[in-house]
Amino acid sequence: MKTLIKNIKELVQIENNPRLKVCGDDMAKMDSIKNAYLIINDDLIEDFGEMANIKGDESSFDKVIDANGKMVFPSFCDSHTHLVYSGSREIEYIDKIRGLSYEEIAERGGGILNSAKRLQEASEEELYNDAMLRLDEIIRMGTGAVEIKSGYGLTTEAELKMLRVIKRLKENSPLTIKSNFLGAHGVPMEYRGRQGEFVDKVINEMIPLVAKDNLADFIDVFCDKGFFTVEETDRILKEGVKYGMIPKIHANELDYSGGVQIAVKHNALSCDHLEFVGEKEIEALLNSQTMPTVLPGAAFFLNMVCSPVRNMMKAGLPIALASDFNPGSSPSGNMQMILSFACVNYKMTPQEAFNATTINSAYAMGISKTHGSIARGKVANFYITKEIPTLEYLPYYYGTNKVDRAFLNGIEY
Ligand code: NIG
Ligand code: FE
Repeated sequence: MKTLIKNIKELVQIENNPRLKVCGDDMAKMDSIKNAYLIINDDLIEDFGEMANIKGDESSFDKVIDANGKMVFPSFCDSHTHLVYSGSREIEYIDKIRGLSYEEIAERGGGILNSAKRLQEASEEELYNDAMLRLDEIIRMGTGAVEIKSGYGLTTEAELKMLRVIKRLKENSPLTIKSNFLGAHGVPMEYRGRQGEFVDKVINEMIPLVAKDNLADFIDVFCDKGFFTVEETDRILKEGVKYGMIPKIHANELDYSGGVQIAVKHNALSCDHLEFVGEKEIEALLNSQTMPTVLPGAAFFLNMVCSPVRNMMKAGLPIALASDFNPGSSPSGNMQMILSFACVNYKMTPQEAFNATTINSAYAMGISKTHGSIARGKVANFYITKEIPTLEYLPYYYGTNKVDRAFLNGIEY
């Protein structure tokens, strides 16, 4: 099935020579074609170019879509979410408004433990249905690929339940989905004071069972002050790698935790959050293949210091941005808002923010060969915008959905 999309005001982020990631100064560059066409063959991008150069006439296509002077962008890749969860946590939101910190809420059994309790009680069906609704929501806002973590189970049974839900979502959703086993997300109450025993359980009991049913592409640890130590992270990642899981970790959100260095040591695909990054962390990341990933939604929602993104790019590093969609620190999967936060709070240019939410975040989930830009042979995940004057308008006119029509694998949703 061949589809022609014609009269595109601007086809954004085309690549004639596709790259796996975009680093440093190159992040400010993004190629596009004005007055363009795009040809889709089944689920793949076949060709694109200027309207004046379309080969063949319209009757040679099975379908012709007139973009009517609207813009086309590659879909967002959201490389860090926790979007399988049960219930919401607006009570803690109020606690935070009244002055409690994220760590204080966690210490008294709120936060991740609160979500874990609810998830343990929820049925697989409920979790699946709730998550499917969230996936539909993010598709309509322009997301085409998403990574989903476990980590609200915290018992072996509940972690496996979460991962089975993610597996079903993978099978039934048009989104490209990657699953991440985050058994070490929080220490359950009954293991307080015996954290090492919980880590042993993650290693000896959970990882082998997760691997046996092939439930996780990645392995993650919340390596930070008040959560898991560098030594514990080291042990868990080592074991995950043995079973073929690729590391991607949470680090340096609450402190200079040493998490960046341990991520690099294990050749992690990405190292996420990164509010606390100095010269040593930048140096470690520069000598690695690890994608520094920043989560502006969580920093906004928790009112934290911002990651020094400009310093990192100046040093030549790439940056990926993701939503961190979760009920505690970032209850939104809206990647258009992430663009706006990136521009206003991190002083990224719109071009840098687009690269960070597409090609670089695709890299951070191991799919940048097939996703993250408009390139021949890549998966046809893209969206047609509403009428907008420029690409900069998308982050500028924040808070509303600028996506008109979303296409995944060449099919409109
Ligand atoms: O990425 N930082 C750790 N984990 C999640 C938050 C989880 C929660 O509060 O429920 C995050 O922000
Ligand atoms: Fe997270």
